[in-house]
Amino acid sequence: MSLDAMFDKAAANAAPVASITIRRPDDWHVHLRDGTMLNAVLPFTAAQFARGIIMPNLVPPVTTVEAAAAYRDRILAARPQGSDFQPLMTCYLTDMTSPDEIERGHAEGVWVAAKLYPAGATTNAHHGVTNIPALAPVLERMEKIGMPVLIHGESTDPEIDIFDREAAFMEHSLLPLLARHPGLKVVIEHATTAETLDIVRAHATRAAATITPHHLVINRTSIFQGGLQPHLYCLPVAKRERHRLALRKAATSGESCFFIGTDTAPHLRTRKEAECCSAGIFGGATALQTYVQVFDEENALDRFETFASLNGARFYGMAPNSGTITLERRESRVMAAVGVDDSEVVVFRGGVTLPWSIVTS
Ligand code: NCD
Ligand code: ZN
Repeated sequence: MSLDAMFDKAAANAAPVASITIRRPDDWHVHLRDGTMLNAVLPFTAAQFARGIIMPNLVPPVTTVEAAAAYRDRILAARPQGSDFQPLMTCYLTDMTSPDEIERGHAEGVWVAAKLYPAGATTNAHHGVTNIPALAPVLERMEKIGMPVLIHGESTDPEIDIFDREAAFMEHSLLPLLARHPGLKVVIEHATTAETLDIVRAHATRAAATITPHHLVINRTSIFQGGLQPHLYCLPVAKRERHRLALRKAATSGESCFFIGTDTAPHLRTRKEAECCSAGIFGGATALQTYVQVFDEENALDRFETFASLNGARFYGMAPNSGTITLERRESRVMAAVGVDDSEVVVFRGGVTLPWSIVTS
């Protein structure tokens, strides 16, 4: 046997990595809700992530500096004892948003970014933006002060097939927006198509995309596997297998324009298993276990920290976190659901044994 072949054989026989320790990661897209739901779900996000970009689609939406500051205080007060989780607040953009209010909230350190929901695109998006070109004065101000816009990139045209809505938005709304605002920092939230990833790559000096855990492990067929699966329904809806594979490749590539955004979006079981199922997957409790499994399966554990803990911070101009978190290759059974009031929220990949676990100190 040649020396090379011997080395190859040794490498193939090497024991798989038993654990991985990375700098504490951040979740750049999280829905924490409010009230009893906030109390129920925050501990899961706070156990996994040091910071989170908090989505503003409450009822009513978070459109003023004062509302954002008050929401931040409620999140801080709801943290489990000993948690230093830091909520990073966002402004919900509407047709009425004023550039001055945007700049004030940013200058006061309340808003880190603003969220653009095309009106009606998703859960609690009916106050969103009806005319994106008309938002130009707001976006120009954001460009000037270096404040990123976070975009839910789906067309709201009811004539467009739901599986094509992200592609339609990219073509008809995102590319013109990028051209109109050449210095604006843009995050395409929860990217779901191979083509979206390529658009982000082509604008990577100032554009980025978050990638959810669920879009790395389910495709559109999963939603119908064995019958309709309401707990796998979210927006943007999962796409074909080729897109899932492209997302896995992008997330594990180490490219700096891709980072974690779980889009953990809890809804009560009663709202999911309903005549009209709400969009959203509660992935917050199993996010890192899912991401690390994907990196392991893609033989990319050496790039996990880059995706989880470095790329997002760099994009937002923040220092990476101090401290670390360790995940180990140890099977553990995850809870199936989290109780909220007299109902519960079903956990994504809950109730089953997962191959990776978080080491709790
Ligand atoms: C989110 C929610 O429930 O707030 N739902 C979802 O399907 N992802 C909203 C969103 O991010 O689209
Ligand atoms: Zn979301």
